[in-house]
Order: sequence, then C-alpha cells, then structure tokens
Amino acid sequence: ALAAQPEGSPFRFPELPAGSDAHHHVAEGHAAEILIRWGDPVLPGAPTFDPERQSAAAQARQFGYNNDFIGYFPMPGTDDPAAHGLLVVNHEYTNEELMFPGLGRQDGKAAFAGMTRELAEIEMAAHGGSVLEIRRVDGRWQIVPDSRFARRITARTPMLMTGPAAGSERLRTGADRQGRHVLGMINNCAGGVTPWGTWLTCEENINYYFQGALPEGSPEARNHKRLGLPGNLYAWGRFDPRFDLAREPNEPNRFGWVVEIDPFDPASVPRKRTAMGRFKHEGAAGIVARDGRYVVFQGDDERFDYVYRFVTRDAVDRANPAANRDILDSGTLSVARFDADGRGTWLPIVHGQGPLTPENGFADQADVLIETRRAADLLGATKMDRPEDVEANPRTGKVYVMLTNNHRRKPEAVDPANPRPDNRFGHIVEIAPDDRDHAAPGFAWEVLLRCGDPAVAAVGATFSSATTRDGWFGMPDNCSVDGLGRLWVATDGNSASRTGRADGIWGVETEGAGRGTARHFFQVPTGAEMCGPYFTPDDSTFFVGVQHPGEADEDDPAALPATFEAPATRWPDFDPATPPRPSVVAITRRGGGRVGT
Ligand code: FEO
Ligand code: CA
Ligand code: CA
Ligand code: CA
Repeated sequence: ALAAQPEGSPFRFPELPAGSDAHHHVAEGHAAEILIRWGDPVLPGAPTFDPERQSAAAQARQFGYNNDFIGYFPMPGTDDPAAHGLLVVNHEYTNEELMFPGLGRQDGKAAFAGMTRELAEIEMAAHGGSVLEIRRVDGRWQIVPDSRFARRITARTPMLMTGPAAGSERLRTGADRQGRHVLGMINNCAGGVTPWGTWLTCEENINYYFQGALPEGSPEARNHKRLGLPGNLYAWGRFDPRFDLAREPNEPNRFGWVVEIDPFDPASVPRKRTAMGRFKHEGAAGIVARDGRYVVFQGDDERFDYVYRFVTRDAVDRANPAANRDILDSGTLSVARFDADGRGTWLPIVHGQGPLTPENGFADQADVLIETRRAADLLGATKMDRPEDVEANPRTGKVYVMLTNNHRRKPEAVDPANPRPDNRFGHIVEIAPDDRDHAAPGFAWEVLLRCGDPAVAAVGATFSSATTRDGWFGMPDNCSVDGLGRLWVATDGNSASRTGRADGIWGVETEGAGRGTARHFFQVPTGAEMCGPYFTPDDSTFFVGVQHPGEADEDDPAALPATFEAPATRWPDFDPATPPRPSVVAITRRGGGRVGT
C-alpha cells in the first residue's frame, strides 16, 4: 500500500482498509487500547458500573457519557512528559435509548415518555467533563486511582460568568439575581488546551435541553429563535424549572459559552468567558500570535453559521502562567468574511461599530455577545456549511476549517468558500493569515479539499489521484495537527449505507505534490462518531474518543431502532448484559516512537 503514496508522503503507515463492523480498527503496526469507558470510576468511592442499577450519585463519581474533546497536560516536573499527565475529557451529551433499560426509542429522539426525575438527574451527572490523572507503565496507559486531581464536572457544577456579559440583566434568573453564578455546562463538544495550562471546553447544542414557551411578548423571543430554542430533545425541563423557558426565560443565555477550567486545581471554579461570544461553539483551538497575544479559532456548528476568531488584548505571560488567569476576559471577537477573490477579512464584533448599535437592539457589548449570531448576521459574515474544528498548523502558519456538511444549501446560494449545493460530504478550507500573523485583520484562503467519494463524479470530490478507495472520507469534524505539522481529520456521519465506511481518522497531506491525499488510519465501531484526537507532546500517543457506539445506521431503512436491549454493537465489552459504552482509546506505535510513521 505504501507504494501507492507519492514520494515523500509524511504518512508512513500501511493504510487501514475502509469498512464498518462492530469493532474498532487501527492501521497495522499500532495498538489501540481502551483507556476508560462510560461508568468507570473517576472519583474515590465510585461504585462499580451496573447498567441495571444506575443512580445520579454513582454517575457523578463515574466517567460520563459521550466523550468528545480530549486534552493532555504533562505533569509538571515529571521526567517523562509523554508518560504522566492529566487527561481532560468533555462529556457532550447522552443517548437515553442506549443508556437506560426499557426506554425504547420514540419519534426520533424526542419526547421520551419513560423519562423520570432520577433518569434526568443521571443524564445531568453524565454531562460535563472529567479530569483524570494518567500514567504510562510498561508501555500501557493507566488511570491513577484516587488521584488528588480527579474531578467530575456536571450539568450542576457551580460556575462563574466572567467578561463583558457577566452580570447583565439578561443573565439574571430566580436563582441568581446577579447574573454571575450558573450551575453546570452542557453539550460540551470540542475545545482546546492553552499554553498557560487550562482547558477550554465549548458549549454547543444547548437548545436541545430547553422546553416550554416564552411568556407572551418576551424580549428574548428573537434571540432564542436564532439559537433554535427550545430544542425539546431532553425531558429535563419537566423536573428542573431552569430548563423550562416559561419559568426561566433567561436561563439559556447562561449557556452557549466557552468554559475555562484549571485541571490542576480540583477546587477551582470553572469560568464561562463571555468575551468569546455565545453560539453553538464547536471548539476553541488557539495559537500565540507573533506579538504574544493569544488567538482562538472557533466554529459555530450550524448550517449557514460562521467562523470566529478571538484575539486577547494582552500578551500571554509564558514565564508566569498564573498571570494569564483572566486573559480571556478582554479581547476582540471577530467573524470571518470569505471573498470571491480568495481574500478574507475578520470583521470585529464590537458594540458601537457599524450596525452594532442601540437602534439595532444592542445597548452594550453584553447584548452583542449574548446575541453573537445576530451581530454577525448584520456584519455580513459568510454563511458556512457547519463550521466544526478550526485548527492552526504552527509549522506552516496556516489554519484549517472543518466544514462538516450542509444538505440545505441551494444551487443559487453557493459561494466560493461553500462551493457545492446539497453539500452532503463537507469540505476543508485553508486560511493563510496575512504576513503569517494570526492577529492580522486579513487573510488569503482556498478550499483544500471537497470530501466524498471521488469515484462518483456528481459528488465533485477533490482528493488527489493518489488517494486510494480506502483513503477518502466524508463529513470532517474534529482535527489535530501533530508535531511534524501533519493534519489528522476525524469524521462524524460516515456509515455503511452512506459512504460504505464507518467514521474514523484520516491523515491528510496539505503540502507539496501530495496535497489533497488522504490515508485511512483508524475506524470506529458501528454507530459511533470519532472524537478527541489529541497527541502527547512527542506524538507517541494519540488519544481518540469513540462517541455513541451502537447507534442505528440512520440512512439504512432496514436498520432496527437501536436500544439498550438491542444496540448496533456492544463495543467495547461485548458482554450481553452491558450496553455499548463511549470510551477513550489510546493509540500507540508498536515498538514505540511517533504514531503514524
Ligand atoms: Fe458536537 Fe459539531 O459536533
Ligand atoms: Ca460530538
Ligand atoms: Ca464535533
Ligand atoms: Ca459533528
């Protein structure tokens, strides 16, 4: 298989055949071992996972559901930064039909008549995040039991609102007259790791958790509609009034933010950084600009929504991490406009500038941030095909934007940055900041790759001719750039019926003659999507997240509904009494060394 690669390909592993089955698979020469599963102990005293006897108290001490973003922090002072550290993991959402016995599946996912207060509370405890201390012993990663760093964050963990919108009237509720103290984070999808040692975790589809009708004439009607509220996918509002818009019309304004957490201090209060905007944040991957300011790229994962950038006001103090504690509270949020000539501009989202005025309903910067999407609409940002991860390559200075798909784009609405109508397979845009300065106002851009099957002409995919039939993919979602500057893309939405392959990870060449060549590296079990991907500092371990294994193939009309009793796979335990479990997998190269070489 290596012979099929152009000379000089940086991806030197034997390509994994594409397919779909109940198991996970990794390219030859690598090991892919389960590190932690839903329900495994995190905090001291966590009971053994018992799927028939779950409780909210147990779940609050155990690893949560649907691991998404993964970040790794070497332990300060360790002699091997690639063998001892903290792993932080987002728990994005819950699949009741796969988690709980006897619920079945009704009307897609909505209206679970069988939901009870206890089940809703288990779900709230299964959301949020985990902090784990991990150590590599004799080549194998282990969770350090009863670590003093171990932490579970849930949909009820006390958090602080900070930055320009903190204290706004529109953030005040019956339980918080100050608009500064919120309980929990929800739907945390991707995120980032900062150079000062904190974890950025991003609230995405927060609308799903709210139900109920706003009071007649509510000033929040336009705002909530723009974010798809109420989403009515979860039953929480039946048991907790803060998820009922009729009772607490401002509660949703306290979600949809980037949350910053210090993983080294389990007593630290997570902070929702309002300066970075409110929308369906996919991720928040950053890079230090030439002048020392921190630049964070963010996608808003919705059809026809936007790509954002946040630039701090102050430079990062690398010598003194504590000095950066509140650096994300002051800075400039911008949104991208991609022009037809291959140029682009970051449009500042600043109160008083352009249309962001009281006449348009923005009394101050708090209003602008709470309604970031409407501000970006008025500024004329480019409507994209569902922006997911946006990641800079520190070796080249280029930035990669994953655009996962948009089947609602009509032929008359295509633009050069979103060039396909009915875009089922997504694409990747490459941004080159002016003067290689990530804080510069302008950039050049081009489409790196249109995804999908190159053998089907109507799809219009642009993988290079060196890409094999195993090497193409659809629906790019998360991504990671390793120490060699190689781009690794994780997917969400491939399936046996849609693309003849499960989701997974592909290495994508971005430079030289091989540009646009992709190579298949990892495959998830059926029903799952691929999340995580995060490397240790020496690229010797690649942590990946397998999310919602066992879901039914939604494009296969013959597929039965997937339930606790009858999931599409029982990965990773394959025990008839245990449902499938979302899990973190540690990939290493057999014999050691850099993964994927
Ligand atoms: Fe939670 Fe945009 O994926
Ligand atoms: Ca996800
Ligand atoms: Ca995602
Ligand atoms: Ca996705």
